[in-house]
Amino acid sequence: MTERLYIFDTTLRDGEQSPGASMTGDEKLRIARQLEKLGVDIIEAGFAAASPGDARAIRTIAEHVKTSTVCSLARANEKDIRAAGDAVRPAQSARIHTFIATSPIHMEKKLRMTPDQVLERAVAAVKLAREYTDDVEFSAEDAVRSDLDFLCRVFEAVIAAGARTVNVPDTVGYSLPALWGERVRQLIERVPNADKVIWSTHCHNDLGMAVANSLAAVMNGARQVECTINGLGERAGNASLEEVVMAVRTRRDVFNCDTRIDTTQIVPTSKLVSTITGYPVQPNKAIVGANAFAHESGIHQDGVLKHRETYEIMRAEDVGWNANRLTLGKLSGRNAFKTKLAELGIVLDGEEALNAAFARFKALADKKREIFDEDLQALVSDETSAGRERYKLVSMRVVSETGETPNAKVVFADDGVEKEAHGEGSGPVDAAFKALESVVQSDADLLLYSVNNITSGTDAQGEVTVRLAKAGRVVNGQGADTDIVVASVKAYLHALNKLDSKLERAHPQV
Ligand code: KIV
Ligand code: ZN
Repeated sequence: MTERLYIFDTTLRDGEQSPGASMTGDEKLRIARQLEKLGVDIIEAGFAAASPGDARAIRTIAEHVKTSTVCSLARANEKDIRAAGDAVRPAQSARIHTFIATSPIHMEKKLRMTPDQVLERAVAAVKLAREYTDDVEFSAEDAVRSDLDFLCRVFEAVIAAGARTVNVPDTVGYSLPALWGERVRQLIERVPNADKVIWSTHCHNDLGMAVANSLAAVMNGARQVECTINGLGERAGNASLEEVVMAVRTRRDVFNCDTRIDTTQIVPTSKLVSTITGYPVQPNKAIVGANAFAHESGIHQDGVLKHRETYEIMRAEDVGWNANRLTLGKLSGRNAFKTKLAELGIVLDGEEALNAAFARFKALADKKREIFDEDLQALVSDETSAGRERYKLVSMRVVSETGETPNAKVVFADDGVEKEAHGEGSGPVDAAFKALESVVQSDADLLLYSVNNITSGTDAQGEVTVRLAKAGRVVNGQGADTDIVVASVKAYLHALNKLDSKLERAHPQV
């Protein structure tokens, strides 16, 4: 009989630890609703103790999500666990995920604790978490570099204390598939009460092995995989959910387990996460990259046309590539617009927000004949951030002519006061950014500038990401428009707005 493999999505927690990927509460809720539609078993909605805003976002997700378990991360201390317990309390199914590092290097250098103190803290954390919910997960951070005997002692003790899931993380992405599979196998074999819990794995991608290591763990008895959409996550990222799910589904002949993921929601989820976080998906990324199902070479095309399985091991439509249906057009009314938003799981705050979004939709439909789901997601992203931002684009003009230096005039509102900026640059985008900087003088470093088309065709909207860094903070700004210079300016202003908001958050692992 096929066993269940649980999918624990940590896009909203570990994924959010990617530089600049921090999301607002509204954005997190939109992603959480989509993860629920995707059929994720557990949504790690955040780290409640990071800030009051993070705790609020988890609570809101806990109030709205019904069919997935909602989880908060907590370090193994009383304050974190109480914050996590309070945040997930409204959930129909709530989990607390508590962790402490177990490797000699982390215990000595980071925690400055002895192994016995760590063990005691782990047990106390699990016991306290159980006062809030029966569903408690324990992770041994840096399990990859931990002593196996000590790991066995810790896992045995936390299982006895009431943990229902125990997670074996490769925190630093150091392992290799054969070794990782062996580690999980030995743990399950040696921990005396191993049969009382679900064994989980959580792999980082520093050596490009996160998915392979996760699958090796599954082959050796793990029945929960912690992963993220598009492989987003700290440093090189986490195991990518879409790759894990499709590997297990496609190779049912090898794995005696399967997930309850609705794979047709994979591509829409990937696009939503990319739009909201400003992390574009590389074209050759498995499953969700633009080229994943494109057959370029003549020989391959010929084969696929004669019999698709000559070169295709999965069908594009099974992972949601055709979900990008034509949605609305110029003649669509307010009701059709509202219904479509509801179908996408988007709830706008009141009639005023709906009217403003509808006006934007009409303006877009005047420029672009066909409006797709992704266009609506981008439009709503713009709309939900627009109301409370300090800087807003009012109008702009750029002149770009061969043989001449491009120049730009940008009019923007700064807390409601209109300002006019002029600049020259090596191209129209450079000129527009220089114009803005000449007035704003943010002094931020531009770390990344990228443009992607949201849908295909030359009338498609360009989606621009601008990553700025200042005083140790990194933020991503996004903007979408059929004119990529306008999209670029919107993205730059969005990033400036994020830098302007004094967001203080603790990082769970520092
Ligand atoms: O990478 C890691 O070890 C983590 C833990 C908090 C599970 O993210
Ligand atoms: Zn991690």
